[in-house]
Amino acid sequence: MDFFHGLAAALLYNYPLIMEQESSKAAAVRQLFADYVVPTYRRSLVLARGAGMYVWDVDGRRYLDMGGGVAVNALGHAHPRLAAALHRQALTLTHTSNLYYHEQQGRLARRLVGHLAPGKVFFCNSGAEANECQYKLARKTGHARGRFEIITALNSFHGRTLAGIAATGQDKVRAGFEPTVSGFKHVPFNDLAAARAAVNEHTAAVLIEGIQGEGGVTPATAEYLIGLRQLTREHGILLLWDGVQCGYFRTGRFQSFQRILEGVTVSGAADFLPDAVAMAKSIGGGFPMGAVWIAAEHADVFQPGTHGTTFGGTPLACAVANAVLDEIEEHHLADNIRAMGELLKARLSAFIGTRGIKDVRGTGGLIGLALTVDGAAAAARLREAGLLLIPAAGDVLRFLPPLNVTAAHIEEAVEIIGRTL
Ligand SMILES: Cc1ncc(COP(=O)(O)O)c(C=O)c1O
Repeated sequence: MDFFHGLAAALLYNYPLIMEQESSKAAAVRQLFADYVVPTYRRSLVLARGAGMYVWDVDGRRYLDMGGGVAVNALGHAHPRLAAALHRQALTLTHTSNLYYHEQQGRLARRLVGHLAPGKVFFCNSGAEANECQYKLARKTGHARGRFEIITALNSFHGRTLAGIAATGQDKVRAGFEPTVSGFKHVPFNDLAAARAAVNEHTAAVLIEGIQGEGGVTPATAEYLIGLRQLTREHGILLLWDGVQCGYFRTGRFQSFQRILEGVTVSGAADFLPDAVAMAKSIGGGFPMGAVWIAAEHADVFQPGTHGTTFGGTPLACAVANAVLDEIEEHHLADNIRAMGELLKARLSAFIGTRGIKDVRGTGGLIGLALTVDGAAAAARLREAGLLLIPAAGDVLRFLPPLNVTAAHIEEAVEIIGRTL
C-alpha cells in the first residue's frame, strides 16, 4: 500500500517533469529541427494532428488550441469543407500563373469587394506581402508629388520583410538589420496630435492596425480613426489599413474599423473607409494567402509590370478561401465569434485581480489577458495543462480562436486558466 501511495505521490509531484519528458518520437523531430531548420522560432510542442479546436502531440496528448495558429485557422483544424475544396481544386486546376484568368480569383475578389466597398483586390501570399503592396501603393500614388513617407504607429507589427520591419514600430525587430529601409516614421498609437505633427510635404500615407495584435491587443479608438481619416483627406494622402490579424471577421465584423465605429454617431463614423486594406492569416483558413483591397479611386494605380507575385491568387488558394468564406457566411461565424468574445471577456474579467491577471481587453476573437507576470512563462504552464495561448508584448496572453469556437470550448479554457494560473 505504502509503495502505491509513494508511487502516486511521486507521479503527482513529478507530473510537470513527466509532461516535459521527451518521447523518442518527439525527440527525433526536435533533432531534425536542431540539425536542419533555421532557428527563427522558439518552438514548444511536437504536433501530429488536429481536429476542430484541438491538436494532439506525437505522444497522443490533446490540447485545446485557443491560439488558432496565430489567427489563421478560421475554421479550426482539418475542417472537412476546407479539405474538400482543397482536394477538389487540386484535381481540377492547381496553379496557372497570373498570365491567365480563372474564375476562383475573380469570384473571391468580387466577394471581398462586397464586404468592403467598390474597389479591386490584389492577391499575394502573406501579411508582410499584403503590406508591401500597400507601401508600393503609397509610393506610386505619391510619386508625382514627391510624397513617399509612410507614418506608422509605435508598437505596431507589419511583417518581417525589410520594408515590413521598417514599418513596424518596434526597435527590436530592426536590430541587426540596419540600414533600415528609409521612408517610415513612427508615432504613438491613438495619439492624433502626434500623427498630425508628423505629416509633412513628403508624407504619402498613414498605416495602422485597428487592434494592435503583436503589440499586446490594443484597439484604436473611434476618435483616432475618424481623426486620421480627416487628416489624411486634408493632405490628399492615403489611409492604409493592416487588417492581417484583427480583420477577416475576427471582431465580429469583416474589418475591425467596422466594429470599432459601430454605434458611433459623430460625423465621419458612418462613411469611414481606408484607401486600402491588407488581409492574410484567416482568409485562407490555413492555406497561405494574402490580399489587398484597394478603393476604386486608386484601384488602377498598379498596371502590368508594376507589381506582382508568382503564387498570388492561385486557383487552389482562391478555392480554399472561397470555401472558408462560404462557411463563415452560411454559418454566421462573425456573429458567433462576437458572442464568444463577449462570453470569454465576461468569464476572464471575473479573474481580474487574481491569478496574476490585471486586465482583459480586445474584442471577438482577439482577446488579450494582461498579466503581472511573464506571458511566455504563463503560456508554458497553461500548455502543460492542455491549453494553447499566444504570448504578446511580454506580459500579455492572446486568445485568437477559430471563428467557429463554441461556448463549451470557452468554458473549458476558462476552467484550465482558473486551476492553473
Ligand atoms: C498585423 C500584422 N501585420 C502583418 C503581419 C505579417 O504577416 P505574415 O507573417 O503573414 O507575413 C502580421 C503577423 O503576425 C500581423 O499580425
